[in-house]
Amino acid sequence: MSLHGKVAIVTGGNSGIGQAIVLALAEAGANVVIDYVCNPEATEALEKQVAALGDKAIGVEADVSKVADLERLVKAGVDAFGRVDVMVNNAGIETRTSVLDTTEDLYGKVLDINLKSAFFGTQLAAKQMIAQGGGGRIINITSVHEDWPMPGNTPYCLSKGGMRMLTRTAGVELAPHGVTVVGVGPGAVDTPINKATVADPTKLKTLDAAIPIGRLAEPKEIADVVAFLASDEASYITATTVFVDGGIMQSSPGL
Ligand code: BGC
Repeated sequence: MSLHGKVAIVTGGNSGIGQAIVLALAEAGANVVIDYVCNPEATEALEKQVAALGDKAIGVEADVSKVADLERLVKAGVDAFGRVDVMVNNAGIETRTSVLDTTEDLYGKVLDINLKSAFFGTQLAAKQMIAQGGGGRIINITSVHEDWPMPGNTPYCLSKGGMRMLTRTAGVELAPHGVTVVGVGPGAVDTPINKATVADPTKLKTLDAAIPIGRLAEPKEIADVVAFLASDEASYITATTVFVDGGIMQSSPGL
């Protein structure tokens, strides 16, 4: 499996699952544009790790909830590396708020950062891929919660449900252009988004017990699937989601 000669953009690329995706794509030979909003030091460190793998990476500070920033991000990829073959819409946040306590402000933030960014990221990357020719890959990092309620995290579930339908609809619309659109739905992953759960032994035990594989995923276990989906070997997968969840969506207490 090789991504030699390919150019990828990863939104939210300097931490958590995004950071692991940058490294997995670079390991397979891609040059990478690392989008980030904070912690430039982490981006610089990651650029060096990519260089050590023999590839090139550039960090671009861009708030993907703004279309103008996304335009700048895609343009940065083209300016630096001449093309964009893989767009990974990974940036995401959650508020852990319910339908009763979500404010207009929190609702807007989650939907803009998670879903609006994926919609316009898909649109802008697809336009570039169509213009340059040769097809492309759009990979949306969703969640098991694109299809599975998480009580107390309602705006997040809404945003991921929207990404599920974006993946399916854009996958159908863009197939004639050779552009595939695939969702990757992680379960619980050991990343900053789950910091509070991981830090609380009781909560962690409950979460581990709900996962048939018995533990959270490492970010690399998600990223390796993304690298495969970005490769030529995954050419026939589109308009669907690959869940990487240790079986959590199918688990039952058996009572
Ligand atoms: C959420 C986590 C949650 C996990 C499993 C993820 O998408 O971000 O907060 O623990 O799903 O439910």
